[in-house]
Amino acid sequence: MMQVLSVASEIAPLVKTGGLADVTGALPAALAGQGVRMRTLVPGYPAILSALEGGQAVAEWPDLFGGPARLLAGQAAGLDLLAIDAPHLFARPGNPYLGPDGRDWPDNPQRFAALSWVAARIGAEGAGGWRPDILHGHDWQAGLVAEYRRTDPAAPPFVLTIHNIAFPGPADPGLVHALRLDPGRFHAEGYEFWGAISALKAGLMGADALTTVSPRYAEELMSAEFGMGLDGVMRHRRDVLSGILNGIDDQLWNPAADPAITPYDGPAGKAPNKAALRAEMGLPDAPGPLCVVISRMTHQKGLDMLAAALPALLDRGGQLALLGSGDAELEGRFRALADHHAGVAVRIGYDEALSHRMIAGGDAILVPSRFEPCGLTQLYGLRYGTIPVVALTGGLADTVINASPAALARNVATGLQFAPVNAESLTNALLHLCALYKDRRTWSRMVRNAMGHPVGWGPSAKAYAALYARLTEAR
Ligand code: ADP
Ligand code: GLC
Repeated sequence: MMQVLSVASEIAPLVKTGGLADVTGALPAALAGQGVRMRTLVPGYPAILSALEGGQAVAEWPDLFGGPARLLAGQAAGLDLLAIDAPHLFARPGNPYLGPDGRDWPDNPQRFAALSWVAARIGAEGAGGWRPDILHGHDWQAGLVAEYRRTDPAAPPFVLTIHNIAFPGPADPGLVHALRLDPGRFHAEGYEFWGAISALKAGLMGADALTTVSPRYAEELMSAEFGMGLDGVMRHRRDVLSGILNGIDDQLWNPAADPAITPYDGPAGKAPNKAALRAEMGLPDAPGPLCVVISRMTHQKGLDMLAAALPALLDRGGQLALLGSGDAELEGRFRALADHHAGVAVRIGYDEALSHRMIAGGDAILVPSRFEPCGLTQLYGLRYGTIPVVALTGGLADTVINASPAALARNVATGLQFAPVNAESLTNALLHLCALYKDRRTWSRMVRNAMGHPVGWGPSAKAYAALYARLTEAR
């Protein structure tokens, strides 16, 4: 059996700020069916340590980046975890990256250097008699694994998955020694990026394989438009880069057995959920489609474009229900829209159960992202027959079949895509949505197609297992 150490800064259902946690939380079970045993190394945040059962100390360090630390092996929420108990780094409640002032913890470079350093130690020495065949890190928080294992000839192969290249994991160049880095590698071929240390760059340069979460984003990463300054690095490493699409947890997101909703297995079953959602959100009956959004409210997610395009939807009797939080300005803008339009309801906050009720009760889910490495909510939408209306980018381009005349004629359409990604083409997509919604026969065919579209982990779990096998055989 292949032994893999996944290295992650968040993992659902224990600690989550976004889709990264869903993916790191789902991979172990998805890969178990492929002959892979995956354990996950995580920082010992309070939410992790309090959930950990049977935690046994399997290693100890007197000084892990400024204080003593232990490595605890145990289970939590069905996950096989190795947690770093280092109170000076991780005994802080709330968001894993941000302090109570909403800013990054100033010692984030040290905190996640510690995560990466411990991963490299486990790769070199094992932990409690267990040693991984592969190290698989996620995003910048695991990037420095590449540096810490450089001088160890027996180190296991390192795979780095890019969930979002917008976060380079920067650190002041004065921290080279504090982060236990080789000063001789502070250069363009090493971990230097625009005069600073970049944990992500270190990983991109030094990993044996790079993956990202959709084939389309893998291509986009090599372009100046999407590479965030790292497109040159991505082109340089194109031979080891591949796109492996995310799946969703099809137990947790199953309309036929979802405890948060009135279960259903076909288009007709959406009606009671829609009525319940309207009642819950205070939305009146209306002739047009009820559109939902579940999203972080940041520039990436393009919700400013939605605010601009919204009148077209409302004019045709459509409605919007939005759940999200993020930029104060965007939150305010949507609150104001809700105040002025009976057809708009907004919930600012984070609410898992409500997100299920919205996906089940909506006719359509809108994802107008400027870039989207994969995106998960459009996949939930497909599974629940909630038609995705998405920007033609990244994983959104790879997972939705646009209702073009040809796709409609062949009855394969599952959603709508718009390009270029701006308010005007989003407006046109919303107008098209309203027209399709009126044509009841076409609409219910699309809902059926969407519900039948595969969104599980099957093929992608196989792709990861095959990648691990290739890397270990190459040794
Ligand atoms: P990203 O990771 O960029 O935020 P994804 O679409 O990959 O985007 O994943 C977002 C995840 O977070 C999904 O599981 C989505 O349902 C969830 N989510 C985002 N905002 C909220 C919210 N306000 N309440 C509940 N769930 C949310
Ligand atoms: C990132 C991306 C999102 C992706 C998620 C999980 O947060 O923004 O598109 O689905 O990671 O891979």
